[in-house]
Formats: sequence, structure tokens, C-alpha cells
Amino acid sequence: LKRVVILGSTGSIGRSAVEIIDSASDDFDVVGLSCGENIVELERQLARYSDSRFTVKDSSLLSKLLLGNDVLKGREVGYGRDGLVALIEETEPDIVVNALVGVVGLVPTVTALSRGCRVALANKETLVTGGEIIDAMAGDPGDLIIPVDSEHFSLSRCLKGYRGNSDEIVLTASGGPFYDREIDSLESVSVEEVLDHPTWTMGRKVTVDSAHLFNKGLEVIEAYWLFKFPYDKIKVVIHPQSIVHSLVRLKDGSFMANLAAADMRLPIMSALYAPEIREFPWRSLRVDELTSLEFIPLEPKRFPAFELAVEAGETGGTAPAVLNAADELAVDAFLAGRIGFLEIVKWIEEALNAHRPEPVEDVADVLDADRWTREYLADRHGEASPM
Ligand SMILES: NC(=O)c1ccc[n+]([C@@H]2O[C@H](COP(=O)([O-])OP(=O)(O)OC[C@H]3O[C@@H](n4cnc5c(N)ncnc54)[C@H](OP(=O)(O)O)[C@@H]3O)[C@@H](O)[C@H]2O)c1
Repeated sequence: LKRVVILGSTGSIGRSAVEIIDSASDDFDVVGLSCGENIVELERQLARYSDSRFTVKDSSLLSKLLLGNDVLKGREVGYGRDGLVALIEETEPDIVVNALVGVVGLVPTVTALSRGCRVALANKETLVTGGEIIDAMAGDPGDLIIPVDSEHFSLSRCLKGYRGNSDEIVLTASGGPFYDREIDSLESVSVEEVLDHPTWTMGRKVTVDSAHLFNKGLEVIEAYWLFKFPYDKIKVVIHPQSIVHSLVRLKDGSFMANLAAADMRLPIMSALYAPEIREFPWRSLRVDELTSLEFIPLEPKRFPAFELAVEAGETGGTAPAVLNAADELAVDAFLAGRIGFLEIVKWIEEALNAHRPEPVEDVADVLDADRWTREYLADRHGEASPM
């Protein structure tokens, strides 16, 4: 039995991980679960995995969950960032599924890696904000870090055995709901329209990020740290069908591609069993679904959020941490109905313009830049958002 901790077990990726393990309980032992605010779902999961320890986002949620619930007492390991760290330290897992959203995922990844524990990494913010730190700890993809983001999972498959003979990688992007619309027409799109993703069902933050390809910019940074291609050799193409997840161009000019149904359970399951390849019990791709695959060149100028993200990646140091914090804050404000969709990119641009990037040497440098951004934007626009 592999001992598994699932951080963010109540989210979209986290619940899929639980579902996979439910269907393979002879292979895995869930020793730790965590939620942000959804204590109802966490309680359900803890009833199923009755030896699992747990942590939640803050002390008031922990008190609420424990109130009159004697079965859970003694299984908690605290709350907040310290709780996430303690969950890994106290349960000694073989693998941590990091399905947290946001920069809050960075410190637990570092904790797991420092203990030699493998991380099935969905939390892209870990590599976006702390790429330098993770790079120094993790080795090649597949050693300690197993990418779960579908494009990166797919790239690690395509690159296997071909890394030295490949000269370009291509991430595909579904384009989200608005890829063929002019940017000016998006001024007053509603939260519902933005969340209506055509091909993937995901958490709210990543769905908003996908609607203006900011998410794809984060994925370029993630690919940079995972696969070590220079930024000008990491390309993006719009592929509305979300069937081809990535391509790798070999030195001889031919391409390798990885095709799969748009189902995150495949990369999650593969990460849990890596390097073994198992039969996938859910929907597999059929060849008759491949009749019309489109690839539309990306015009970066039409996607300023994408451009900002890639530029911050190229700048490096603390710039990506500022980019990410500004986006987390702006997306919260958009989802709360406080700002319009196009203001998200303005907030990110404001923060990046005001910030002087510093080198990242340790986690504190990232967290300082994150804090600076939240304070800066709160000063300008009101309402700080906690990490
Ligand atoms: N969903 C996808 O298909 C997909 C695909 C590729 C990559 N990813 C990446 O995977 C990560 C997770 O995405 P998701 O779509 O699963 O997000 P999600 O549905 O929003 O789930 C996020 C999880 O993190 C928890 N959480 C949020 N803030 C927290 C905090 N401050 N402290 C502790 N826990 C916190 C949430 O708890 P509560 O829900 O209990 O509040 C939830 O369990 C993101 O980095 C995303 O970019 C997602």
C-alpha cells in the first residue's frame, strides 16, 4: 500500500484523486486529507478514510468541524500553512498529491521534497512562484515531482527518451470560451460566462485564468522549470478540441504528440502509479473522435494576460510571485462581483509595473513578494485577500 496525502482533497483535482483511490483501495492508504473551507465534504472523506489525519484552512473552521464530533478529535494536525506542513511531517507519506490552488501550495511542496517524498503536482503555483527553489530540490520530472497538469503530464510522456533530441515543446490551449472574440467585447462578461469552460470542468480560479489564457502563461512558466527549454522554445497553439495535450518537435523536424480524452483522472491516476502505466477504468479516447483536430496559431497581442505571464516568467526572480499574487487577488475580486473581467489584467499589470524584481533564494523571498503585492493592491483598491 502506498501512503498518500491529498492536499486540497475537497477541490476538483482533490476529489478526482479521492475517486481514483476509492476505486483502487488495495493499492493506496489515505493517511492525510485537507480542505480550505468545505468542511462538509472533508468530513465525508474522513468518514471513509477513518485512519486519515487532517487539516483545514483556519482555526474557526477547525473548531466548527470538531464541535461535538468526537470521532475526529485527535486526528487533526492543526490548521493553515503550519497544518499543511504538519500533515506531511506527521503522516510520512510515500506520495503527496498537491491539489491546492494558489501560492499556499508552495511550502507543503517544499516540505514534501525536503523529506524525499514524491509529489504529484497539480498546484502549478508551486513552480510559477518558487521554480528556482523546487528546481534545486526535485531533479528531473518523474523523479520527485510528477506533473499532473494535463499538458505537462503529456509532455513528460512525449519527452521520455527524446529529451536530448528535441528542440521545441508545444502546449495546447483550448482557448476557453472567448478565444475567437475581440478583447473589447469582453468588458462586461458575467462570472457565469467566464466560468462556462467549453472542454474542462475545473475549480473556479483556474477556470477564470483559462478564459483569458493567463493560465496558459502560468503553464509556460511551469514547463520552463520542469523541462528546461528556453522560453522561446516553448510554444502555445490553440486547439479547441482539447484532445492533443502537447507536442514535442524533434531535431529532425518531426513531431511527437500525446492525445487523450479531456479527463484529469488520467494524469492524476498516472501520477499515483508512476512510472507504471495502468488500465484507465473510465472513458478512453476513441479513434473516431479524431476526425477534426484544429490547431490555430496564438496571437499573443490578443491575450495580454498570457503575454504578461510569460514576460514575468522571463524576468524571473520575484516577478512571477507578484504576477501570481496579483492574479489571485484580482480573480477573487472578480468572482465576488467587485471588478469586471478586463480589470484582472489591469491589476496584474499595475503590480508588476510597481515591483522591482529581486532574486529568489528561498521561500521567504517568494512569500515577501506575495505579501508586498497583496498590500500594494489592497492600498490601491481596498480589501486585502489573505493568502
Ligand atoms: N481542475 C483542473 O482540472 C486542473 C487541471 C490542471 C491543473 N490544475 C491546478 O490544480 C490546482 C487545483 O485546482 P482545482 O481546480 O482542483 O482547484 P479547486 O477546485 O479550487 O480546489 C482547490 C483546493 O484547495 C483548497 N484550498 C483553497 N485555498 C486554500 C487555503 N488557503 N488553504 C488550504 N486549502 C485551500 C480548497 O479547499 P475548499 O474547496 O475546501 O475551500 C480545495 O480543496 C490549481 O493549481 C490548478 O491550476 C487544475
